[in-house]
Amino acid sequence: MQIINARLRHSPALHTLSIEQGRFSAISEQSGALAATGAQIDAAGKLACAPFVEPHIHLDAALTAGEPNWNLSGTLFEGIERWAERKPLLNEADIRRRVLQTLELLVSQGVQFVRTHADISDPSLVGLRTLCALRDELKEKIEIQVVAFPQEGLLSFPNGVQLMEQALEIGADVVGGIPHFEYTRELGEASMKKVIELALKYDRLVDVHCDEIDDPNSRFLEVLACEALFHGLGERVTASHTTAMHSYDNAYCSKLFRLLKRSGINFISCPTESIHLQGRFDSYPKRRGLTRVKELNAAEINVCFGQDSIFDPWYSLGNGKLLRTLDFGLHICQMMGYDDFSQALDLISDNSARTLHIEDRYGIEVGKPGNLILLDGEDDYSVLRKQGDVLLSVRQGEVIMRREPARVVSPAWIDGNNA
Ligand code: FE2
Repeated sequence: MQIINARLRHSPALHTLSIEQGRFSAISEQSGALAATGAQIDAAGKLACAPFVEPHIHLDAALTAGEPNWNLSGTLFEGIERWAERKPLLNEADIRRRVLQTLELLVSQGVQFVRTHADISDPSLVGLRTLCALRDELKEKIEIQVVAFPQEGLLSFPNGVQLMEQALEIGADVVGGIPHFEYTRELGEASMKKVIELALKYDRLVDVHCDEIDDPNSRFLEVLACEALFHGLGERVTASHTTAMHSYDNAYCSKLFRLLKRSGINFISCPTESIHLQGRFDSYPKRRGLTRVKELNAAEINVCFGQDSIFDPWYSLGNGKLLRTLDFGLHICQMMGYDDFSQALDLISDNSARTLHIEDRYGIEVGKPGNLILLDGEDDYSVLRKQGDVLLSVRQGEVIMRREPARVVSPAWIDGNNA
């Protein structure tokens, strides 16, 4: 396969990208635009980018909003209650149907790598078993990592640790946790130590729902980062949400950043979900409830954006479009400068790949798997501003999704140029 006239990120020149036997075999800069032969794909100056990565989603819960009851308060904790009502209705066929529908949405938006959480506060582990089976069945089409996520607590839910070990033996890729939801601070801290202990025992990655609350005293992140540092696991560990950091005292946060930087752990923020769920106990002023993405990024601590939910008990919107999540995130975090815009796609591509620990097989580079997407825009800024569609998705040299751009017929009083 050969794609001509493609722009690459941070380079205004047109490029030819060649993919042979599923891998990039050559990437060359053109001196000008080329005319396509029959076998070539003409990118027409659009931006070629490594596929988007969804680093944080709950596929087992996707598309269940309102079943059997809606989350009327809009709080995270009512979401957990509504999900607990839906859980007894889960079965393999139900999960498969919804997961495949959700993956279709994600693929249509340029996603080729997904980290999903699977709720293991369920003695049947049906969600985890089904997601692991789908991961294996679909591995040629989309790469999925499954997090064993103890939604109702690792130490507070009956047999939580045994369920976690069972999930890891079944084949979960990542150990999860939820320290702020454990009954006590002591249990929360102990759960972080247990998560790291299990990651070492089973040689797995770590991704914790950490401090997903507005409580400024929720400080499990420092325990997670410290454990990661002491055990040398930094880049294999991720803290998701960390919304309490929004409310931390600045002096404490300054000290904390020293540890975060040294630990090398990754961060995932879910802007649409957090702006919706957090600040629910505030009157006015009302906190935004997102972690300090701008400051983490400035400190060169790896941070990326995820969707978290698509039409589930916690969030009843969502469409798989990470560009929408990115747009929200940049607004909410006040990352609206030229430099922010010109590197914006990092937050849903390269940074996310680092979080998933897949850098060895990610990126448009000779020798790496021939995976890319083509975006309707010329650079990060124009894709973001126009919310440019994903026009093409290529996986190992095969086109897996193609979108025909919408055509707008302008009113007669506009003289042809509506760019
Ligand atoms: Fe989540």
